[in-house]
Amino acid sequence: MANDSENLLKKVIAHAKEYGFIFPSSEIYDGLSAVYDYGQNGVELKNNIKEYWWKFMTQMHDNIVGIDAAIFMHPTTWKASGHVDAFNDPMVDNKDSKKRYRADVLVEDAIGKMEEKIEKEIDKAAKRFGDAFNKEQFVQTNARVLEYQKKIDEANARLKEAMNKNDMAAMKQLIVDLEINDPISGTKNWTDVRQFNLMFSTEMGSVADDANKIYLRPETAQGIFVNFLNVQKTGRMKIPFGIAQIGKAFRNEIVARQFIFRMREFEQMEMQFFVKPGTEMEWYEKWKQKRMKWHQTLGLGENNYRFHDHLNLAHYANAACDIQFNFPMGFKELEGIHSRTDFDLKSHEKFSGKKLQYFDSESNQSYVPFVVETSVGLDRMFLSVLATSYKEEKIAGAEGEAGSERVVLSIPPALAPYKIAVLPLVKKDGLSEKAEEVMNLLKHDFRCYYEDKDTIGRRYRRMDAIGTPYCITIDHQTLQDNSVTIRERDTMRQERISITAVREKIQKLVSITELLKKVS
Ligand code: GAP
Repeated sequence: MANDSENLLKKVIAHAKEYGFIFPSSEIYDGLSAVYDYGQNGVELKNNIKEYWWKFMTQMHDNIVGIDAAIFMHPTTWKASGHVDAFNDPMVDNKDSKKRYRADVLVEDAIGKMEEKIEKEIDKAAKRFGDAFNKEQFVQTNARVLEYQKKIDEANARLKEAMNKNDMAAMKQLIVDLEINDPISGTKNWTDVRQFNLMFSTEMGSVADDANKIYLRPETAQGIFVNFLNVQKTGRMKIPFGIAQIGKAFRNEIVARQFIFRMREFEQMEMQFFVKPGTEMEWYEKWKQKRMKWHQTLGLGENNYRFHDHLNLAHYANAACDIQFNFPMGFKELEGIHSRTDFDLKSHEKFSGKKLQYFDSESNQSYVPFVVETSVGLDRMFLSVLATSYKEEKIAGAEGEAGSERVVLSIPPALAPYKIAVLPLVKKDGLSEKAEEVMNLLKHDFRCYYEDKDTIGRRYRRMDAIGTPYCITIDHQTLQDNSVTIRERDTMRQERISITAVREKIQKLVSITELLKKVS
């Protein structure tokens, strides 16, 4: 991660804590690694993201309904889904630092370093040759670049083979051959590489033997698969139809870092779309476009999103891609879109002995539907919004503003924790009472923040820092003509309008309904 990006992430983390968005879990005990709590402002932002997703999925699509399945499921679920046998990451420990790493990530980082070396050679040559520099020719002929590229290709091929064949000895040999050092101890004193299952387990009931072992779900999707027929029959759903769900998932990530990007307890917003076999690629393409549009409508910048196709498909998929977002640490997965075939339903049929088929009254046939899945991490969505909204600005000379710089969160207004701050200019002369009247007028429609301490400039700063899109100031003129000033967060522009016009002016600008209209 480049220095600027590292700094940005650090600043976002500090800001999130200082302004009640995200706290480390159980902080008074020094926190719990890769687990976080959402504070008073964080929970509002999170709920607004959920509402935007839920309404888009279930309200805007009359063939999608929601469920809320339990986190605990029958343990055979995870045998059928393949998680017990195959939801593994290869891990390796450094014997000196006692730190644990994902072996594939160590190799990928080493490959990344070789790629950086090639970039450096290219930069050096570009400077040396100036306008005459031909990058393509240089890359194809320079001995050092060719040597690095050969090593990169070999390492990639060996990594892929080791992962595919589940060959952990080959993985260890690759770490040795690439001469990878532990970033902490600096030594090459590695243990063997072992597969590590990412599911958390616990015991149900009072007898602590293996028969009672159950898992905390590592994805919400299986709660949808096992309820497929319940929903289809009771909802009289006709294929194609979808089931949506928002809920917690748990993974014992080996390398849990980068704040809320990779957590051990996180939330997913998943939708399984059940289709007729043979039509899945058509629906896969449709859902790719729909989901991209949903993201881009938020206004965080269209160039911050891109598709990334999976080259190594999971055993259950016949097509898969990520929607990546330009996070402070670079483009990374935000959402997965997977064509999961009929793998899950068929496997649950096999393990449960129950039929999970759909009767198609048009063709008079029963079949196991194919599934197209969309799965977005709620916490990653949160990070994408927070990090992109965080801005440090110079504001010298702006009227009524405090200081010469500000930190502002330009959160999309529909997602902001508070939509309006109601601020009496001073506490006396009946302005507080008037402000309370304004609060009472607006609070049924908007989440409003009331604040009467400090100078107005300082109060604007605090509202900027939590991303409140509108500040309404009540001054002495308000008592005379019922007008207020309304200040817009991003432009800091102020305008005087009648109290009765506030609601109508703001409603459209801050409503999720308007966002939803734009997506469709
Ligand atoms: N049901 C499919 C599934 O779970 P996934 O790609 O493993 O697919 C889907 O996860 C999404 O969940 C990811 O795109 C990411 O946004 C989020 N996610 C996965 N692991 C996560 C973690 N450890 N912390 C935060 N979010 C995570």
